[in-house]
Amino acid sequence: LNSPGLGVRASGLIGRSWAMLFASGGFKVKLYDIEKQQITNALENIRKEIKTLEQSGLLKGSLSSDQQLALISGCTDLKMAVEGAMHIQECTPENLELKKKVFSQLDLIVDDKVVLSSSTSCLLPSKIFSGLKHVKQCIVAHPVNPPYYKIGLSPVRILKEIDGMILTRIQYAIISEAWRLVDEGLVSPSDLDTVMSDGLGMRYAFIGPLETMHLNAEGMLNYCERYSEGMKHVLKTFGPIPDFSGATLENVHQAMCAHIPADPAHLAARRQWRDECLMKLAKLKSQMQAE
Ligand code: NAI
Repeated sequence: LNSPGLGVRASGLIGRSWAMLFASGGFKVKLYDIEKQQITNALENIRKEIKTLEQSGLLKGSLSSDQQLALISGCTDLKMAVEGAMHIQECTPENLELKKKVFSQLDLIVDDKVVLSSSTSCLLPSKIFSGLKHVKQCIVAHPVNPPYYKIGLSPVRILKEIDGMILTRIQYAIISEAWRLVDEGLVSPSDLDTVMSDGLGMRYAFIGPLETMHLNAEGMLNYCERYSEGMKHVLKTFGPIPDFSGATLENVHQAMCAHIPADPAHLAARRQWRDECLMKLAKLKSQMQAE
Protein backbone atom coordinates (compact mmCIF):
# COMPACT_ATOMS: atom_id res chain seq x y z
CA LEU A 1 0.00 0.00 0.00
CA ASN A 2 1.31 3.35 -0.95
CA SER A 3 -0.52 5.23 1.76
CA PRO A 4 0.66 8.04 3.99
CA GLY A 5 1.69 6.95 7.44
CA LEU A 6 0.26 7.75 10.82
CA GLY A 7 2.07 7.75 14.11
CA VAL A 8 0.41 6.70 17.32
CA ARG A 9 2.27 7.84 20.36
CA ALA A 10 1.81 5.53 23.34
CA SER A 11 0.55 2.00 23.02
CA GLY A 12 -1.95 1.82 25.87
CA LEU A 13 -5.64 1.02 25.63
CA ILE A 14 -6.55 3.96 23.42
CA GLY A 15 -3.36 3.94 21.33
CA ARG A 16 -3.99 0.34 20.27
CA SER A 17 -7.53 1.04 19.25
CA TRP A 18 -6.53 4.08 17.17
CA ALA A 19 -3.84 1.97 15.47
CA MET A 20 -6.41 -0.66 14.46
CA LEU A 21 -8.79 1.99 13.21
CA PHE A 22 -6.15 3.73 11.07
CA ALA A 23 -4.96 0.42 9.62
CA SER A 24 -8.55 -0.53 8.77
CA GLY A 25 -8.61 2.57 6.56
CA GLY A 26 -5.44 1.40 4.78
CA PHE A 27 -2.95 3.70 6.55
CA LYS A 28 0.49 2.68 7.69
CA VAL A 29 0.76 3.02 11.47
CA LYS A 30 3.81 3.21 13.71
CA LEU A 31 3.31 2.69 17.42
CA TYR A 32 5.69 4.43 19.78
CA ASP A 33 5.87 4.13 23.57
CA ILE A 34 8.51 4.88 26.18
CA GLU A 35 8.00 1.36 27.52
CA LYS A 36 9.31 -1.17 24.97
CA GLN A 37 7.20 -3.90 26.53
CA GLN A 38 4.06 -1.84 25.94
CA ILE A 39 4.77 -1.87 22.20
CA THR A 40 5.31 -5.62 22.20
CA ASN A 41 2.12 -6.17 24.20
CA ALA A 42 0.17 -3.81 21.97
CA LEU A 43 1.26 -5.54 18.76
CA GLU A 44 0.38 -8.92 20.22
CA ASN A 45 -2.97 -7.70 21.44
CA ILE A 46 -3.77 -6.04 18.10
CA ARG A 47 -2.87 -9.23 16.22
CA LYS A 48 -5.26 -11.27 18.36
CA GLU A 49 -8.06 -8.73 18.14
CA ILE A 50 -7.83 -8.27 14.38
CA LYS A 51 -7.86 -12.05 13.85
CA THR A 52 -10.85 -12.48 16.17
CA LEU A 53 -12.69 -9.66 14.41
CA GLU A 54 -12.05 -11.23 11.03
CA GLN A 55 -13.24 -14.66 12.22
CA SER A 56 -16.47 -13.17 13.49
CA GLY A 57 -16.99 -11.13 10.33
CA LEU A 58 -16.61 -7.87 12.22
CA LEU A 59 -13.31 -6.61 10.81
CA LYS A 60 -13.57 -3.03 9.56
CA GLY A 61 -12.48 -1.87 6.12
CA SER A 62 -11.89 -3.72 2.89
CA LEU A 63 -8.45 -5.20 3.67
CA SER A 64 -7.84 -8.67 5.07
CA SER A 65 -6.52 -9.15 8.61
CA ASP A 66 -3.03 -9.92 7.27
CA GLN A 67 -3.01 -6.82 5.08
CA GLN A 68 -4.09 -4.67 8.03
CA LEU A 69 -1.56 -6.26 10.37
CA ALA A 70 1.21 -5.64 7.85
CA LEU A 71 0.46 -1.92 8.09
CA ILE A 72 1.09 -1.73 11.84
CA SER A 73 4.59 -1.76 13.27
CA GLY A 74 6.30 -0.71 16.49
CA CYS A 75 9.10 1.82 16.78
CA THR A 76 11.30 2.71 19.74
CA ASP A 77 12.83 5.81 18.21
CA LEU A 78 10.55 8.84 18.30
CA LYS A 79 12.12 10.59 15.32
CA MET A 80 11.78 7.50 13.16
CA ALA A 81 8.25 6.91 14.42
CA VAL A 82 6.99 10.27 13.21
CA GLU A 83 9.08 10.59 10.05
CA GLY A 84 6.87 11.11 7.00
CA ALA A 85 3.66 10.89 9.08
CA MET A 86 0.61 12.91 8.06
CA HIS A 87 -1.06 12.50 11.45
CA ILE A 88 0.30 11.88 14.95
CA GLN A 89 -2.18 10.70 17.57
CA GLU A 90 -0.91 11.18 21.11
CA CYS A 91 -2.35 8.74 23.66
CA THR A 92 -0.17 9.19 26.74
CA PRO A 93 -1.70 9.20 30.25
CA GLU A 94 -4.03 12.05 31.18
CA ASN A 95 -1.44 14.36 32.77
CA LEU A 96 -0.97 17.95 31.61
CA GLU A 97 2.76 18.22 32.31
CA LEU A 98 3.45 14.93 30.54
CA LYS A 99 1.38 15.87 27.49
CA LYS A 100 3.06 19.30 27.31
CA LYS A 101 6.44 17.59 27.39
CA VAL A 102 5.43 15.12 24.70
CA PHE A 103 4.15 17.85 22.36
CA SER A 104 7.21 20.05 22.92
CA GLN A 105 9.40 17.09 21.92
CA LEU A 106 7.29 16.56 18.83
CA ASP A 107 7.36 20.29 18.05
CA LEU A 108 11.12 20.08 17.54
CA ILE A 109 11.03 17.24 15.03
CA VAL A 110 7.85 17.55 12.96
CA ASP A 111 7.29 19.35 9.66
CA ASP A 112 4.79 22.13 8.96
CA LYS A 113 2.08 19.82 7.61
CA VAL A 114 1.55 16.93 10.01
CA VAL A 115 -1.56 17.04 12.21
CA LEU A 116 -0.65 16.83 15.90
CA SER A 117 -3.62 15.34 17.66
CA SER A 118 -4.21 14.65 21.35
CA SER A 119 -6.63 12.02 22.69
CA THR A 120 -7.08 13.95 25.93
CA SER A 121 -10.39 13.50 27.73
CA CYS A 122 -10.39 16.70 29.80
CA LEU A 123 -7.29 18.82 29.33
CA LEU A 124 -7.72 22.13 27.54
CA PRO A 125 -6.03 22.42 24.12
CA SER A 126 -4.82 25.94 24.97
CA LYS A 127 -2.96 24.50 27.99
CA ILE A 128 -1.46 21.50 26.18
CA PHE A 129 -0.38 23.31 23.01
CA SER A 130 0.44 26.84 24.20
CA GLY A 131 3.83 28.12 23.06
CA LEU A 132 4.38 25.46 20.41
CA LYS A 133 5.84 26.52 17.08
CA HIS A 134 3.39 24.20 15.31
CA VAL A 135 0.35 25.22 17.37
CA LYS A 136 -1.79 25.79 14.26
CA GLN A 137 -1.39 22.10 13.37
CA CYS A 138 -2.67 20.94 16.78
CA ILE A 139 -6.10 19.51 17.51
CA VAL A 140 -7.79 17.45 20.19
CA ALA A 141 -9.44 14.34 18.74
CA HIS A 142 -11.04 12.76 21.75
CA PRO A 143 -12.25 9.25 21.00
CA VAL A 144 -15.22 7.51 22.52
CA ASN A 145 -13.75 4.40 24.07
CA PRO A 146 -13.14 2.05 22.27
CA PRO A 147 -12.31 4.25 19.23
CA TYR A 148 -12.24 1.26 16.86
CA TYR A 149 -16.02 0.89 16.98
CA LYS A 150 -17.00 4.53 16.89
CA ILE A 151 -14.50 6.94 15.46
CA GLY A 152 -14.30 7.82 11.79
CA LEU A 153 -18.08 7.82 11.63
CA SER A 154 -19.32 11.05 13.15
CA PRO A 155 -16.81 13.75 14.05
CA VAL A 156 -18.30 16.77 15.87
CA ARG A 157 -16.71 20.19 16.27
CA ILE A 158 -16.57 22.00 19.60
CA LEU A 159 -17.18 25.70 18.97
CA LYS A 160 -15.58 27.07 22.14
CA GLU A 161 -12.96 25.72 24.52
CA ILE A 162 -14.42 24.31 27.73
CA ASP A 163 -13.20 22.02 30.52
CA GLY A 164 -13.99 18.39 29.75
CA MET A 165 -15.34 19.18 26.29
CA ILE A 166 -18.76 17.81 25.36
CA LEU A 167 -18.90 14.04 25.64
CA THR A 168 -16.94 13.92 28.88
CA ARG A 169 -19.12 16.62 30.48
CA ILE A 170 -22.29 14.69 29.64
CA GLN A 171 -20.70 11.47 30.86
CA TYR A 172 -19.65 13.11 34.14
CA ALA A 173 -23.15 14.52 34.65
CA ILE A 174 -24.56 11.00 34.35
CA ILE A 175 -21.86 9.48 36.57
CA SER A 176 -22.42 12.15 39.26
CA GLU A 177 -26.15 11.62 39.49
CA ALA A 178 -25.72 7.83 39.38
CA TRP A 179 -23.25 8.05 42.25
CA ARG A 180 -25.48 10.37 44.31
CA LEU A 181 -28.48 8.06 43.89
CA VAL A 182 -26.44 5.09 45.14
CA ASP A 183 -24.83 7.19 47.86
CA GLU A 184 -28.23 8.28 49.16
CA GLY A 185 -29.42 4.66 49.27
CA LEU A 186 -32.09 5.18 46.59
CA VAL A 187 -31.01 2.38 44.30
CA SER A 188 -28.49 -0.48 44.20
CA PRO A 189 -25.42 -0.12 41.94
CA SER A 190 -26.56 -2.96 39.67
CA ASP A 191 -30.12 -1.60 39.32
CA LEU A 192 -28.65 1.79 38.52
CA ASP A 193 -26.68 0.30 35.63
CA THR A 194 -29.77 -1.57 34.43
CA VAL A 195 -31.68 1.73 34.21
CA MET A 196 -29.11 2.91 31.70
CA SER A 197 -28.36 -0.29 29.76
CA ASP A 198 -31.96 -1.59 29.44
CA GLY A 199 -33.74 1.74 29.72
CA LEU A 200 -32.38 5.16 28.95
CA GLY A 201 -29.33 4.00 27.05
CA MET A 202 -31.19 2.14 24.28
CA ARG A 203 -32.48 5.25 22.53
CA TYR A 204 -29.23 7.18 22.84
CA ALA A 205 -27.55 4.91 20.31
CA PHE A 206 -29.97 6.40 17.77
CA ILE A 207 -31.19 9.80 18.94
CA GLY A 208 -29.73 12.41 21.28
CA PRO A 209 -31.33 13.98 24.38
CA LEU A 210 -32.59 17.02 22.46
CA GLU A 211 -34.31 14.95 19.79
CA THR A 212 -35.72 12.81 22.60
CA MET A 213 -37.38 15.95 24.00
CA HIS A 214 -38.69 16.86 20.55
CA LEU A 215 -40.26 13.42 20.08
CA ASN A 216 -41.60 12.99 23.60
CA ALA A 217 -44.19 15.72 23.08
CA GLU A 218 -45.61 17.55 20.11
CA GLY A 219 -42.22 19.03 19.32
CA MET A 220 -39.64 20.89 21.41
CA LEU A 221 -41.78 23.95 22.24
CA ASN A 222 -44.57 21.74 23.49
CA TYR A 223 -42.13 19.59 25.51
CA CYS A 224 -40.76 22.64 27.32
CA GLU A 225 -44.26 24.00 27.91
CA ARG A 226 -45.27 20.69 29.46
CA TYR A 227 -42.18 19.63 31.31
CA SER A 228 -39.82 22.54 32.02
CA GLU A 229 -41.29 23.31 35.47
CA GLY A 230 -41.05 19.65 36.48
CA MET A 231 -37.50 19.37 35.17
CA LYS A 232 -36.39 22.48 37.04
CA HIS A 233 -38.04 21.21 40.23
CA VAL A 234 -36.16 17.89 40.03
CA LEU A 235 -32.89 19.51 38.94
CA LYS A 236 -32.94 21.74 42.05
CA THR A 237 -32.81 18.57 44.18
CA PHE A 238 -29.54 17.37 42.60
CA GLY A 239 -26.80 17.14 45.22
CA PRO A 240 -23.21 18.42 45.26
CA ILE A 241 -20.24 16.91 43.41
CA PRO A 242 -19.57 13.44 44.91
CA ASP A 243 -16.05 12.74 46.19
CA PHE A 244 -16.03 9.18 44.74
CA SER A 245 -14.52 7.64 47.87
CA GLY A 246 -15.41 6.10 51.23
CA ALA A 247 -18.30 3.72 51.90
CA THR A 248 -20.07 4.41 48.59
CA LEU A 249 -16.92 3.62 46.63
CA GLU A 250 -16.58 0.35 48.55
CA ASN A 251 -20.26 -0.47 47.90
CA VAL A 252 -20.01 0.24 44.15
CA HIS A 253 -16.69 -1.59 43.92
CA GLN A 254 -18.11 -4.71 45.60
CA ALA A 255 -21.16 -4.68 43.35
CA MET A 256 -19.09 -4.33 40.19
CA CYS A 257 -16.69 -7.10 41.25
CA ALA A 258 -19.57 -9.45 42.06
CA HIS A 259 -20.63 -9.02 38.44
CA ILE A 260 -17.16 -8.84 36.82
CA PRO A 261 -14.14 -9.66 39.01
CA ALA A 262 -11.54 -6.88 38.58
CA ASP A 263 -8.71 -9.15 37.40
CA PRO A 264 -7.21 -8.68 33.91
CA ALA A 265 -8.73 -11.85 32.43
CA HIS A 266 -12.33 -11.11 33.48
CA LEU A 267 -12.04 -7.47 32.50
CA ALA A 268 -10.60 -8.37 29.10
CA ALA A 269 -13.35 -10.92 28.44
CA ARG A 270 -16.06 -8.44 29.33
CA ARG A 271 -14.44 -5.72 27.18
CA GLN A 272 -14.38 -8.14 24.27
CA TRP A 273 -18.08 -8.88 24.74
CA ARG A 274 -18.80 -5.12 24.93
CA ASP A 275 -16.83 -4.50 21.75
CA GLU A 276 -18.75 -7.22 19.89
CA CYS A 277 -22.03 -5.68 21.04
CA LEU A 278 -20.87 -2.27 19.84
CA MET A 279 -19.80 -3.60 16.47
CA LYS A 280 -23.19 -5.26 15.98
CA LEU A 281 -24.92 -2.09 17.07
CA ALA A 282 -22.82 -0.09 14.58
CA LYS A 283 -23.98 -2.48 11.83
CA LEU A 284 -27.59 -2.05 12.88
CA LYS A 285 -27.19 1.72 12.89
CA SER A 286 -25.84 1.78 9.36
CA GLN A 287 -28.70 -0.50 8.21
CA MET A 288 -31.27 1.76 9.85
CA GLN A 289 -29.73 4.87 8.28
CA ALA A 290 -29.83 3.25 4.85
CA GLU A 291 -33.57 2.48 5.20
P1 NAI B 1 -2.95 3.87 29.21
O1 NAI B 1 -2.41 4.11 30.57
O2 NAI B 1 -3.61 2.58 28.86
O3 NAI B 1 -1.78 4.11 28.14
C1 NAI B 1 -0.84 5.14 28.25
C2 NAI B 1 0.45 4.70 27.54
O4 NAI B 1 1.33 5.84 27.48
C3 NAI B 1 1.22 3.60 28.27
O5 NAI B 1 1.49 2.55 27.36
C4 NAI B 1 2.53 4.30 28.69
O6 NAI B 1 3.65 3.43 28.70
C5 NAI B 1 2.67 5.37 27.62
N1 NAI B 1 3.51 6.53 27.93
C6 NAI B 1 3.69 7.14 29.12
N2 NAI B 1 4.53 8.20 28.98
C7 NAI B 1 4.87 8.25 27.67
C8 NAI B 1 5.71 9.13 26.89
N3 NAI B 1 6.36 10.15 27.45
N4 NAI B 1 5.84 8.88 25.55
C9 NAI B 1 5.20 7.84 24.99
N5 NAI B 1 4.41 6.98 25.68
C10 NAI B 1 4.23 7.20 27.01
O7 NAI B 1 -3.96 5.11 28.93
P2 NAI B 1 -5.25 5.17 27.99
O8 NAI B 1 -6.46 4.72 28.72
O9 NAI B 1 -4.91 4.57 26.68
O10 NAI B 1 -5.44 6.77 27.80
C11 NAI B 1 -4.58 7.54 26.94
C12 NAI B 1 -5.24 8.90 26.67
O11 NAI B 1 -6.51 8.70 26.03
C13 NAI B 1 -5.51 9.74 27.91
O12 NAI B 1 -5.31 11.11 27.62
C14 NAI B 1 -7.00 9.49 28.17
O13 NAI B 1 -7.61 10.56 28.86
C15 NAI B 1 -7.51 9.40 26.74
N6 NAI B 1 -8.76 8.67 26.62
C16 NAI B 1 -8.98 7.53 27.36
C17 NAI B 1 -10.21 6.87 27.29
C18 NAI B 1 -10.46 5.63 28.09
O14 NAI B 1 -11.63 5.27 28.22
N7 NAI B 1 -9.45 4.93 28.59
C19 NAI B 1 -11.28 7.36 26.40
C20 NAI B 1 -10.90 8.51 25.59
C21 NAI B 1 -9.70 9.14 25.74
